[in-house]
Amino acid sequence: MVAEPTIPTNRNVGVLVSGRGSNFRSLLDAKARGDLDANFTVVISNNPSAGAKAHAEEFGIPWVVIDHRTFASRQAFEEELVAQLRAHDVSVVVLAGFMRVLSSTFLDAYGGLTLNIHPSLLPAFPGLNAQKQAIEAGVRVSGCTVHLVDSGVDTGPIIDQAVVAVPNDDTVEALSARILVQEHRLLPRALGWVLDGRVTIQDQVVALDA
Ligand code: GRF
Repeated sequence: MVAEPTIPTNRNVGVLVSGRGSNFRSLLDAKARGDLDANFTVVISNNPSAGAKAHAEEFGIPWVVIDHRTFASRQAFEEELVAQLRAHDVSVVVLAGFMRVLSSTFLDAYGGLTLNIHPSLLPAFPGLNAQKQAIEAGVRVSGCTVHLVDSGVDTGPIIDQAVVAVPNDDTVEALSARILVQEHRLLPRALGWVLDGRVTIQDQVVALDA
């Protein structure tokens, strides 16, 4: 279940990352182009050596490491996430390649206002290695999904999706690269919709005010 309201109180965004940060970069680039009106007040990584740090430094976004391995429990880790997000006055959170599942400790604070990007057409192929799952299943199309986050793994109301073809001779690397192009297009646009208050939930399904 995703709690309402889903209308943010300001345009301050916190981004959670674990890795290279190309989706985070796509948000920064969209803002720089004038395609996204957002204030990125903090980026938080659970991985001290995440490549996303370079993008944060280039754009002057505050970079905070909260290493989950240094916390005694998931709850304590999430309490620190929420404390940092609140300290940076964040109202909308984007999971951009963030590799931790979030529980009620986090969702009680930011449920309904947290987006995730996933490299498959959910509800197909949730979890790790979605592109490999798609190829092994022999599907003819796959893609990516932006959704609101609930307590499941890659579940929660879907905001937007894009489709890519999966040819016979496809590889995980080639499919991942083609999907990533679409991820970088979808995520900034979906974030803009959420910040504009256009994404609401009715019966756990997104109603987009187009
Ligand atoms: C993306 O494929 C995203 O869909 C998934 O993790 C990957 C993160 O890539 N959740 P990046 O760190 O944004 O480059």
